[in-house]
Amino acid sequence: MNAFEYRDGQLYCEDVAVADLAAEYGTPLYIYSKAQLLHQLGQIQEAFAETDPVICYSVKANSNLAVLKTMNEAGSSFDVVSGGELYRVKQAGADTTRVVFAGVGKTDEEIRFALECDILKFDVESEAELDAIAAVAESMGKVGRVALRLNPDIDAKTHEKTTTGKKGNKFGMDIERANQLADKVLANPHLKLSGIHMHLGSPILTTEPYEKASKKAVEIVAAYRAKGHEISWINLGGGFGISYKHEEGLPASEYAKVIVPQIKEAGCRLTLEPGRFIAGNSGVLISKVIFTKREGGKLFIIQDGGMNDLVRPAMYDSFHRVWPVAPSIEMPANAEATPDGCEAADVVGPICESCDYLAKGRHLPPMQRGDLLCTFSAGAYGSAMSSTYNSRPRAAEILVDGSNVTVARRRETYEDLVAHEIG
Ligand code: LLP
Repeated sequence: MNAFEYRDGQLYCEDVAVADLAAEYGTPLYIYSKAQLLHQLGQIQEAFAETDPVICYSVKANSNLAVLKTMNEAGSSFDVVSGGELYRVKQAGADTTRVVFAGVGKTDEEIRFALECDILKFDVESEAELDAIAAVAESMGKVGRVALRLNPDIDAKTHEKTTTGKKGNKFGMDIERANQLADKVLANPHLKLSGIHMHLGSPILTTEPYEKASKKAVEIVAAYRAKGHEISWINLGGGFGISYKHEEGLPASEYAKVIVPQIKEAGCRLTLEPGRFIAGNSGVLISKVIFTKREGGKLFIIQDGGMNDLVRPAMYDSFHRVWPVAPSIEMPANAEATPDGCEAADVVGPICESCDYLAKGRHLPPMQRGDLLCTFSAGAYGSAMSSTYNSRPRAAEILVDGSNVTVARRRETYEDLVAHEIG
C-alpha cells in the first residue's frame, strides 16, 4: 500500500489533501499516516509469526507519542536506547516488561529506571556495563536479564556512519569477549543471560547479512546452552531497508525467509527492532517555496524545510524523493528520472550552512514562490533528529487516520525557543 498518493493532481495522505493540512497547520510540516504505520508493522508481525516474536519498534526512528501509541495499540513492543525513550514508551502506555534496552552508554540512573520497569532485557555492550547492571540490580535486590550484544563482523554495506556490525565499530563485543562475559553472568545471582543480540547496520537492502548473522546466532546459542544458560531469545536488531528512490525495499517476508528457519532451529523466540521499515515511508515533510534563484549556472529552490527539520541529506548525503504537492507533471516511478518539462535544481533550506539541502541536482517541474513541496520517506529519523539550529522552531507533526487529523505535536513558538534559558 501507499498512503501518500496523487489524486487528480493533488497529493493526499489517506483521505486528506496535503495542501489543506499545510494551509491549516503551516509549513514545514511532518505528516504521518496511521494506516501505513500499521501496515508496515503488520507485515513484520505476519512474516515472523512462526517465531512467536516480540517486535520492538525502535523508538529512535520516530519517538512521537502518537506514533508510539499507534504501535502499542497494535501489539508492538519497543526498543529504547535511553531513559528518555523508556519514559516515552511508559507515557504511551506500553507494557515495559516487553521492552529491550540497547546502547553503549547506559548510566546507573538509566539502569535503575529500567530495572524498576522490569524490562525484558538489557542488550549489553561491554564488560563495564555488565558490572554496572549487576551492581545496580544487587542494590535493588533484583535480577537484571541481559542479552550479550555481539559484533558479528558482518559488512552490511550501509553508509559508513550507519554501519554497526563491523569490527572497529563502537557497538557490541567480539565473540571471545562475549564468551568470557557469559561465564561471568553464570557466577552472579543478580544477572541472568536470556539471549543474544546483533544489529548489523541501517538501512540494509539485501537478506545475506541477516542470513549470516542468524546462522552465527544458532551456533552461539548452542554453545551458551552447553555452558548452562537458559537462552530463549535471539534479537537480530533492526535495519530493514525501505524504498527511497523506486522499489528497492524488500518486503518483510524476504528477510523472514532467511531468518525464521534459523530461529526455529535454535528453538528460540525472536526479537526484532525495526524502526525505519515501520516509520520511514509512513511520513513526509511538507515545505513551501520561499524564493527561487539562479546563480553560478544553477537553479536553487529555496524552501522553508531546513537541515534542522531533516538532517539526513546534510549528515549522510541521504537521498529523499522531492516532488511538488500539486505537480504540473505526473510523478515518475523512479525518483532519479529526468522527465520532459523538468529542470535540474538544488532544493535548499534557509539555514546558514552550505550543507543545508534536501535534494541536489533534482529534475523538478517549474516551481514558484508559495508552491508546496513534499519530501518523501521522512517518517524515520526526520523529526526525531530535528533541532532548533538557527533558532528555528521545530515543525508541527500531524497524524492522519482516514479522514481524521490529529495534531501529534504542535508547532514550536519563539517563546518555546527560549523557555529553558535563563537571562
Ligand atoms: N536496533 C539498534 C540497536 C539500532 O542501533 C538501530 C538503529 C535500530 C535497531 C533501528 O534501525 P532501523 O530499523 O531503523 O534501521 N539516523 C540514521 C540511522 C541510524 C540508525 C541507528 N540505529 C539514518 O537516518 O539513516
